[in-house]
Amino acid sequence: MAPSRVASRATADGSSKRPAQSAPSQSEANEAKAEANEAKAEANEAKAEANGAKAEANGAKAEANGAKAEANGVKAATPTKFEQLKASSTHLHEPLGSELSNELKNFSEGAVQILKFHGSYQQDNRDNRRKGEEKDWQMMLRLRSPAGRIPVPLYLALDGLADRLGNGTLRATTRQAFQMHGVAKTDLKEVIGTIVRSMGSTLSACGDINRNVMAPAAPFSGGGYPAARLLADQIADLLTPEAAEGSYLDLWVDGDLTYRIRPSAAVKRAKARQKEGAVFSGDSEEPLYGSTYLPRKFKVAVTVPGDNAVDLLTQDIGLVLFTDPNGRPRGCNVYVGGGMGRTHNKEETFARTADPLGYVAADDVLDLIQAILALQRDHGDRQQRRHARMKYLIHDRGIGWFKQELTRYFSQPIRPLRDEPKRKLLDYLGWHRQGDGLWFVGLPLLCGRLEGETKLALRRLVEFYQLEVRLTPNQDLLLCNIGAPQRSSLKRELTAIGFAAPEDTTPLARHAIACPALPTCGLAITEAERILPMVVARLETQLAGLGIERPVLVRMTGCPNGCARPYMAEIGLVGSGVDEYQLWLGGTPGLTQLARPFLQRLPLEQLENTLEPLLLAWRDQGGRTSFGAFVGQIGDARVAELLAIAG
Ligand code: HEM
Ligand code: SF4
Repeated sequence: MAPSRVASRATADGSSKRPAQSAPSQSEANEAKAEANEAKAEANEAKAEANGAKAEANGAKAEANGAKAEANGVKAATPTKFEQLKASSTHLHEPLGSELSNELKNFSEGAVQILKFHGSYQQDNRDNRRKGEEKDWQMMLRLRSPAGRIPVPLYLALDGLADRLGNGTLRATTRQAFQMHGVAKTDLKEVIGTIVRSMGSTLSACGDINRNVMAPAAPFSGGGYPAARLLADQIADLLTPEAAEGSYLDLWVDGDLTYRIRPSAAVKRAKARQKEGAVFSGDSEEPLYGSTYLPRKFKVAVTVPGDNAVDLLTQDIGLVLFTDPNGRPRGCNVYVGGGMGRTHNKEETFARTADPLGYVAADDVLDLIQAILALQRDHGDRQQRRHARMKYLIHDRGIGWFKQELTRYFSQPIRPLRDEPKRKLLDYLGWHRQGDGLWFVGLPLLCGRLEGETKLALRRLVEFYQLEVRLTPNQDLLLCNIGAPQRSSLKRELTAIGFAAPEDTTPLARHAIACPALPTCGLAITEAERILPMVVARLETQLAGLGIERPVLVRMTGCPNGCARPYMAEIGLVGSGVDEYQLWLGGTPGLTQLARPFLQRLPLEQLENTLEPLLLAWRDQGGRTSFGAFVGQIGDARVAELLAIAG
């Protein structure tokens, strides 16, 4: 399908023809609990206000920001508590800094919100909740690893930290960064400090700011891959906050500024332009973001034509980089306004795929990225967090308005999209030549969880052979830079730990992904990661029994926030009650269009019964199309009829 057609379909999905995406009211109790977490945060922000003079000084900055936004044509409203919290945080330092060394096992809600910008969520082990007892507090940490690249020293440090100060596991996430769970508040400084000293960072891995920049993980040395990886690094550096980086280093490595990122010359030049025109926030210490940062999280991915491992249309900004025959960048097709998060029973929230913006020459891409971010900074909804992602701005005002408004922030031409080949989800499992005389091998990790013997063995291999690691958005792991002479011994060692033929996974397990959900995620309504292997095995048994060989893309989350991008799957299971899931169908294997919700509370035990008539109909039409495309062809009414047969 030509990209422009994919995208126009996507636009229709995200706007007027958008299907209802709600689940029924029973799940509201759970949902309410989850929301209570966020609400509490807002209530506690009042505490942050007690920061006295500093707060006031920062309040003034927030006002300056407001004034700037107003100058950019946006009416200032009274800032919400959340916005005030950011403004009074001294560029994301307080109240976190003052609470780090107190004896409490947990942070106040105000500090929790600021902690997110430092890459950490406060959680509790929900398996250990007991009435009347204090929660089993622990911190989750997420890294910033553009394109999923983990240098050897960082991998070894993380592996050791997980054992010594975490819960003994590492998790490769759907955004190509490792997460650690189970870190005690008292150990946070040691853990983050060690990460920083080992070539890593957790800065802006969570929070209202640009998140980890995705790009194809494969270390190919040819085609457009090196340029795409480089662009991801450049964007990550370009969108790193300046003043908050100072706060980050102050808190975690005692202010050692030698750990500041060192942007390339091109990025430095573009950063200098953050103080110009409409892109400038008005805050000279934090020129791009200003003291209130963004209304909500912001996500960017880069890829090469045809490779859709990064789930391009789910991002705030998706870039497809075209290069010349020597791999030099020519320009990018740019897509804007994707996002997965939604809330059950709130029709005003929805998953949305990105709209095409156009094609921009390579020299202008960095300026375009910061221009789009600044536009969202000024126009995104800062009154309602639920409505604050850029996807809502584009949905509400239209892509025409967005393009027009963008001209105030970006003066270079935006041309029509260039043609792209059909997009595919490439997973790079198995052995591949990198193209520079070296090899890499992609190893499947169901749900991305690294633990036990596999974790131990991989550490040994990374250390002994000095292999750089890269994480894929499919929660898999690539061992890179393998010399030809190392190949046979490494193959033997991988065989010994169960990776004899890493590309030969079972058909559904290969692309199935799940979010962490229980027991760590405070927002989980029901299980995801812990039961995905069982769900995949059940569906594989069913498909085999029906004589269906073609795989189906399955994604599962414990709540509608959509951390494993379930709304792009052929079968998406989104937690809506205990052991109950919304059933989404109609995504495609290449992640090119949104699925639609068909059942609101499917008890997991009825999964096979419910799907069987539909799977049979698919099989009987000859299996020429993917399951997702078949669902699209027969139409929603027929799908609903087939699903109802079991009920
Ligand atoms: C909209 C509201 C959202 C909230 C409040 C939220 C919150 C969370 C929380 C608390 C976790 C940590 C879970 C754990 O490790 O125990 C998490 C994980 C994660 N979230 Fe979200 N999330 C949201 C939406 C999204 C969306 C839409 C995406 C991307 C499509 C996303 C991407 C991730 C990723 C990559 C992880 C790491 C774990 C994994 O790979 O599954 N989040 N999120
Ligand atoms: S989708 Fe999963 S990880 Fe994300 S908030 Fe919901 S339960 Fe937590």
